[in-house]
Amino acid sequence: MPKPPPTPPRSRPEPLLTVDGLRISFSGTEAVRGVTFEVYAGEVLALVGESGAGKSLTARALLGMVPRAATVTGRVLLRGAPVTPADLGRRIARIPQDAQSALSPVHRVEDQLALAARSVRPLRRAEARALARRALAEVGLGPEAAAARPHALSGGMRQRAVIATALVNGPELVVADEPTTALDPERRERILTLLRERCADAGAALLLVSHDLEAVRRHADRVAVLHAGRVAELGPAARVLTRPAAPYTRGLLAALPTEDLPHRSRLPAPDGTPSVPGAPGCAFAPRCPRATDRCRAEEPDLRTAAGHRVACHHPYTEGEAA
Ligand SMILES: Nc1ncnc2c1ncn2[C@@H]1O[C@H](COP(=O)(O)OP(=O)(O)OP(=O)(O)O)[C@@H](O)[C@H]1O
Ligand SMILES: [Mg+2]
Repeated sequence: MPKPPPTPPRSRPEPLLTVDGLRISFSGTEAVRGVTFEVYAGEVLALVGESGAGKSLTARALLGMVPRAATVTGRVLLRGAPVTPADLGRRIARIPQDAQSALSPVHRVEDQLALAARSVRPLRRAEARALARRALAEVGLGPEAAAARPHALSGGMRQRAVIATALVNGPELVVADEPTTALDPERRERILTLLRERCADAGAALLLVSHDLEAVRRHADRVAVLHAGRVAELGPAARVLTRPAAPYTRGLLAALPTEDLPHRSRLPAPDGTPSVPGAPGCAFAPRCPRATDRCRAEEPDLRTAAGHRVACHHPYTEGEAA
């Protein structure tokens, strides 16, 4: 009998995480206005954009941590099923912004990790402690640091302990919102490298929220650019951060102080005529050098072209100078 034809390879595997039409509002004012993206197993996806773009709210929605006053609609799926509270800390872990306050000052570091391990599955004390020590060893913290209380550790060591805590239960996704803002540039780079490498070793995807486009370029596989609660551009970091199609992304890159980037344009500061929430048109139109009447009338949808998505009526073509 002839062999059945092989199934054609899929262009992309099933996403690990699907965020579909996420909307978050406060008393009727929408801060996140239909954010859609996916995270694939093992990748680093960065969320970038100006302050107030909705990065943290989006990240918090994945962790079930939106402020109480928020109304959330849309879907967040983990391997196709809605995220449940039981997934948090186990399948989805969080790297908090402030390592200092994330760790309890009164407990030994290894006890905190052991507690985190025992909170998601039944483990004997000794098993949990062994797991904790292994997780700490993997971020370079030996038995002495493991047995110490956080105040006895340096800032960098505390950051390592926080990474170990996030990874102790073998999560599929780690969400880190500006995890290194409190550090000096050199330590920031070291911690980000450690975080990325440890996630890769553990097979966890990393959703990294960051203002630092240079760091994102070094560490992310793909990047989603958020503007005014929407995704403006989404694609491979190497492409989005060197040859962006959205005028907004070009503006963001132009604000970088260093590096010779081929496509730059100035991003005018908000000029006092911000788009009124709920106003028609593209929220970037008041600041956009390419805006037309259409942009002021009709909000652009996120369109796909060759694995790269852009929400713009007049995107730049690949070689086009700003
Ligand atoms: N608790 C809240 N109540 C009301 N509005 C809120 C609340 N939290 C956030 N917002 C609104 O949502 C918008 C997006 O907030 P978010 O914290 O997600 O921004 P961000 O992109 O993380 O900014 P940053 O880069 O400064 O951290 C804010 O501009 C604010 O208007
Ligand atoms: Mg934020």
